Amino acid sequence: RPELNRAPQGDFMRPASRSRAHSNAKTNGVGVQVEETRICVVMVGLPARGKSLIAQKVVRYLGWLSITAKCFNVGNYRRTSTPQPSAAFFDTSNKEGERLRMAAAEAAVKDMCNWFRKPDNLIAILDATNSTKARRRWIKDRCDAEGIETLFVESKCDDEELIMANIKEVKTTSPDYKGQDPEEAARDFRERIRMYERVYETLDEDEADMTYCKIIDVGSQVIINRIQDYLQSRVVYYLMNLHIKPRSIWISRHGESMYNLSGQIGGDANLSSRGEQYAKLLPEMVKKSAGDLPLTVWTSTLKRTAQTARYLPYEKLSWKALDELDSGVCDGLTYAEIEAQYPQDFKARDEDKYNYRYLGGESYRDVVIRLEPIIMELERSENILIVTHQAVLRCIYAYFMGSSQEQSPWMEVPLHCLIKLTPRAYKTEEERMFADVPAVSTWRGKGTKAEHAPTPAQSVAPSPMIKPEIKVT
Ligand code: ATP
Ligand code: F6P
Repeated sequence: RPELNRAPQGDFMRPASRSRAHSNAKTNGVGVQVEETRICVVMVGLPARGKSLIAQKVVRYLGWLSITAKCFNVGNYRRTSTPQPSAAFFDTSNKEGERLRMAAAEAAVKDMCNWFRKPDNLIAILDATNSTKARRRWIKDRCDAEGIETLFVESKCDDEELIMANIKEVKTTSPDYKGQDPEEAARDFRERIRMYERVYETLDEDEADMTYCKIIDVGSQVIINRIQDYLQSRVVYYLMNLHIKPRSIWISRHGESMYNLSGQIGGDANLSSRGEQYAKLLPEMVKKSAGDLPLTVWTSTLKRTAQTARYLPYEKLSWKALDELDSGVCDGLTYAEIEAQYPQDFKARDEDKYNYRYLGGESYRDVVIRLEPIIMELERSENILIVTHQAVLRCIYAYFMGSSQEQSPWMEVPLHCLIKLTPRAYKTEEERMFADVPAVSTWRGKGTKAEHAPTPAQSVAPSPMIKPEIKVT
């Protein structure tokens, strides 16, 4: 009997060797050799242009791919000396203001350079306006001296209405205006922008020697210059796919399957009769949640997701990348059978579920890598409903909610539950709706015995049919 194996650590763009400081050859999840480069992504743009939002998304995306990234927000450094500045603080003729702002930028760059000394730390985002050519040159020189590449990312947007909406959405609640009247805060912030406008210089041909990506009007035009390597192009490609149109993503596991009933994993089973009931209720649940919004449904290529989606009156697309985690030689076994036949591996999986790879199968880490195009497509899309499987759903959820690799493989996602995720500035809102159709539980807690309860673990909801539960992360 073959022993199962452990997935090697760090399949995606992580160092294969850490002996050389600046330029190690690495292999990503699909076996592509990439150079180990340390990159400082330097945000550029007037206030309220979405720089912080972009920076946070990039950090979350890279973290999901196991690339260690960190954001250094100059505003946070400035707040230590000047917690609640008025617009006049940002006037360049205000010498004291200038001194404190430069000191904040220096402190952030210094911390960032120290952070880069750890070999695993690959991408830093320097989040500030960096709105003059002189400031950007200073950052580039500092990074060059440390052997750190720079990628300047400018967000340029002159849509007054959008900027005012941004100010109202995020700026009036910023710590800079804590306890202040929102109307007054919005006025002051508008004035702060005016201070920056006086000195703002967009990236142009004078900076043709720099690597940059200029995002104009939320991506309606993108100018890229001197993108040099794989990692930079991954970041730029991600940025090119982002949009800020309001939308939601709904995710659901397939209805209860015959394998769920018998406690077997993997396979390509049909729905149970309760699973079929869930499929019949799903259109009503989706309608209640999404109203008349246009939607596209994505399923895997396995029968149980297509069967669950079959009554949904929307365009459907099936993706191989959404198929359940491949359990290799354990496909078709119950957890109890795996524990009996492969006790060591059963234990090893509990110890490091994210990295554990079934013999001839996959780990959670492998699933994340194959889901990357799905995430990219999701970022480009608007309202999407994904009907998929437990492990795949956990990985998609982890991307949106920033869940850790330790926690995400253990997340409880009951059958017959529809999850609505709504990306908002700096957070994703979550809502769960349960169908009033019982189903077995397929969840097993870390270190617990491999038992299977063929009777429904989920209690029947009284009425109404859908129980909403709202959580914000
Ligand atoms: P500051 O310089 O004050 O820190 P900022 O540029 O970092 O401002 P954010 O705090 O990120 O701005 O602003 C978030 C708002 O910007 C959100 O309302 C978001 O919808 C919006 N936004 C996101 N991306 C863009 C973009 N490319 N252009 C304009 N607005 C955007
Ligand atoms: O005004 C927006 C802001 O984020 C401030 O909070 C922060 O002090 C400043 O930008 C940082 O950018 P700069 O490098 O231009 O001072």
